[in-house]
Formats: sequence, C-alpha cells, structure tokens
Amino acid sequence: MEKFIVNGARPLKGEVTISGAKNAAVAIIPASILAQGTCIIENIPRISDVTVLIRILKDMGASVQMLDNTTMEIDTSNTMLPVVPYELARRMRGSYYFLGALLGRCSRASVSMPGGCDFGVRPIDQHIKAFEAMNAKVTVDRGMVNTVANQLLGGHIYFDIETVGGTINAMLAAVKAKGITILENAAKEPHVVDLANFLNSMGADIRGAGTDVIKIHGVEQLHGTTYSIIPDQIEAGTFMVAAAASGGDVLIKNVIPKHLESISEKLVRIGASIEEHDDSIRVIGHLPMNSLSIKTLPYPGFPTDMQPQMTALLTMASGTSIVTESIFSNRFRYVDELRRMGADIRVDGTVAVVQGVEQLTGAPVKATDLRAGAALLIAACCAKGTTEIEDIYHIERGYENIVEKFIGLGADIRKVSVDEPDRTPVMAQAL
Ligand code: EPU
Repeated sequence: MEKFIVNGARPLKGEVTISGAKNAAVAIIPASILAQGTCIIENIPRISDVTVLIRILKDMGASVQMLDNTTMEIDTSNTMLPVVPYELARRMRGSYYFLGALLGRCSRASVSMPGGCDFGVRPIDQHIKAFEAMNAKVTVDRGMVNTVANQLLGGHIYFDIETVGGTINAMLAAVKAKGITILENAAKEPHVVDLANFLNSMGADIRGAGTDVIKIHGVEQLHGTTYSIIPDQIEAGTFMVAAAASGGDVLIKNVIPKHLESISEKLVRIGASIEEHDDSIRVIGHLPMNSLSIKTLPYPGFPTDMQPQMTALLTMASGTSIVTESIFSNRFRYVDELRRMGADIRVDGTVAVVQGVEQLTGAPVKATDLRAGAALLIAACCAKGTTEIEDIYHIERGYENIVEKFIGLGADIRKVSVDEPDRTPVMAQAL
C-alpha cells in the first residue's frame, strides 16, 4: 500500500502535458477485438485500468504488446475465449465493454458484473435493453452477465436515460449486426465520438456520434487500423482546477479546448483567467475566488467527473456555493475527507452547500474513488501544512504519472509506502 504526502500552500506554475483519455481507451481497447487484423492504438494512457484491460485481453487469447510507452499493438487473430472473470472485471467499470465487443466478435459473452467507482447504484439495464433489441438473449447468473445471439440484428433503441456505457456497448454490438441500428437519446461525450471514429477507421459505418441520434449500418467485417486516442478531458480539467485553486499559472498542453468549455466557463466565473490556444489552454488563478453554483449534466454540460475537483476548489472560494450532482445518486462520499481538512460542506441528498473558508489545513485523508482522490490532491496542494492521502490506487486507476506531473508544476508531493517510516513531522507542519 502506498500513500501521497503533500506539503501544500504553493501555487502551481509551469507546463503539463495531458495523456490519452481514460474513458476512450477503456472503450477502444475492447473494441479492437472486433477487427480481423492488428490494431495499433496510439496515445494510450499508462494507468492501472489499462493494465487490467491488457490482462483481460491476454487471458482471452489476444497478443498485446507495447510498441513504445504509449503505443499498443493488439492482435486478436487467435480464437478468443468470450469470458471475463470476476477477478478482473471487478477491478474496473469499463470491463463491461467486452459484452458488446464479444457479442460482435463471438456472438456470445460472459462478463462478470463490473466494478469501478462506487457512487451508489449503477445498473446496466439500458445495456441489456440494447442487446435484447438486437436479438441477443441476456441472463444474469451468479454475478455473471451472459449474452448470446444466433444472429445479431439491427434494432431501434431509445435510451430511458443518457448513458455513456449503454451507448458505447450498443455501438460495439451494432457495428457487425445485420441491418441498421438507431440509438436515440444517445450519450454525446467526447469518448463516445472517439470510439465511433475508431470503429469507422476499422470499416464500420456509424453516423451521428456526438448528437443524440446515432445510426449504425452493420458491416460483415472490420479490419485492423492505426488510431490515436483523444486527450483526456477530465485530466485536463483537473489540472485547470488545480491551477486556479492554487492561484497558479499553468499551460496545459495536448488538449481539445472545445471539450473543456464547460469547465473554462466556470473557472472564469470564479475569477480565473483563461487563454485558449489551438491545442493548449492556460489557466491563471486569482485569489480570493468567487463562489459559484454548478450542476452536473451530460456533455456538453458540466461533467460529473469534475464535480469533486470543483467542489474542492469551492471550499476555498469566498461565500456560499451550491453543487448539484444530477448523474449519480451518491457522489459526495469524499466530502467527509475535505471536512477533515477544514472545509465547511453540508450535503443533502444530491446537493452540497459549500461555505468557503479562508484556508484548508493538511490532514490524513483517504481517496474514496478516482475523482475524489484528485479532489483531495488539489485540496492538499492548496492547504496549509501536510496532507497524507491514502488509498491512492483509486487515483492511479485513471491519472498517468500524476505525482511527476504535479511535481513538474512545483508541487511538493511524494509517494511513499505506507509501511515506510514517516519522516514528515505532520503535526509540526500543520500547526
Ligand atoms: N444508468 C442506468 N442504467 C444503465 C446505465 C446507466 O440507470 O443501464 C444510470 C447510471 O446509474 C447513472 C447514469 O445512468 O446514474 C449515467 O451513467 P453512465 O452509464 O453514463 O455512466 P457509466 O458508463 O457507468 C461513464 C464513465 C464515468 C462517468 C460517467 C458519466 C467510463 C468507464 N466511466 O460511466 O467515468 O462518470 O460515464 O459521464 O467511461 C470516471 O472517469 O471517474 C468515471 C466514473
């Protein structure tokens, strides 16, 4: 077990380069098994979720190798075993994309119910509804989701709720289904579009990705491809918020500014300055910050995956902020940890009322999930004194080289083994 030790109250300054998008990678890597040849995927983020996907692919019979640090070659010409066991599926949410991909490849799949961040109930009824509309039979037995189809057929699916995972899984199953599939009320997130572009580069015929109606003409075969994953919208947003909250000045490189508009707009309202360039964005923080109300919404609204980081920032803004979480039922579990650092936050269901304080103070805290961990890291960089963040494996699931990237911006952070004797005089620094 490892933890981060952060000495805070330092403005972040300098440049940081954003890695490939986690939520695109976790869809594109499983999608590669639909190809009749070899896929070369560039801009792969080096995160633990990707390591799990490599293990799943290898277990199924694929040959996977890294051609360099960020380029992966996947060859699935061997017979694939259409099973993802509990031991691997429980480690990440994206493992359920093998349901759609294996259905397309092998006409059957058995995948353990997925793990991932715990923000309350996360059903997959919409995924199942989509597979059934495409002529697949779905059963759930002892934690395994089993799907089988003699012949996948195009279907007309109206999602009852905008679901990223449901939209992606339906696209994966539909690309090789016979006939036309129409997805209505589809998710519009950048990684949905990235997956569609990847599949189209393999010979699929998907139109409308990025709008709420996606039309897929099934094709007989898909071929190998070379494709580069988009930059990570949420990693970029995390550094933008960290720069603003610390009163810093950071140039965030390798981004698509259009994907960051909802975040930039909020940062301007709290008083930060934003400069947009072609593929980079500069954020200059000005303290004290203004309070703000935000509500999470599907893209292009403010992303739920930025809610904890923005809440961490608002704990240090002047006045009262209201944060409404409208995607997940329980995404405020990290609030208790911020309170340990002196934050004044009251939560009532899916609404948090944040009363800004002048300064947070370092404390021992635990990352309760991936973005919660990022929020604690931002708070720790701004807080007076030393913060120890435990359960950092959550953070490493989705952020590549996060310690090195923060150190590159002048943060005082180190990763230590929990068993290592702690040489940092925590109490002395916190006082
Ligand atoms: N939902 C249903 N039924 C379904 C599917 C979803 O009721 O069949 C509900 C969910 O419970 C939730 C809402 O619909 O209330 C939206 O869920 P969605 O399916 O969009 O989320 P997801 O696919 O489980 C992905 C990302 C999350 C991100 C959400 C929302 C991946 C692997 N995960 O999850 O990313 O928060 O979309 O944008 O792509 C993260 O990166 O930290 C993360 C949690």
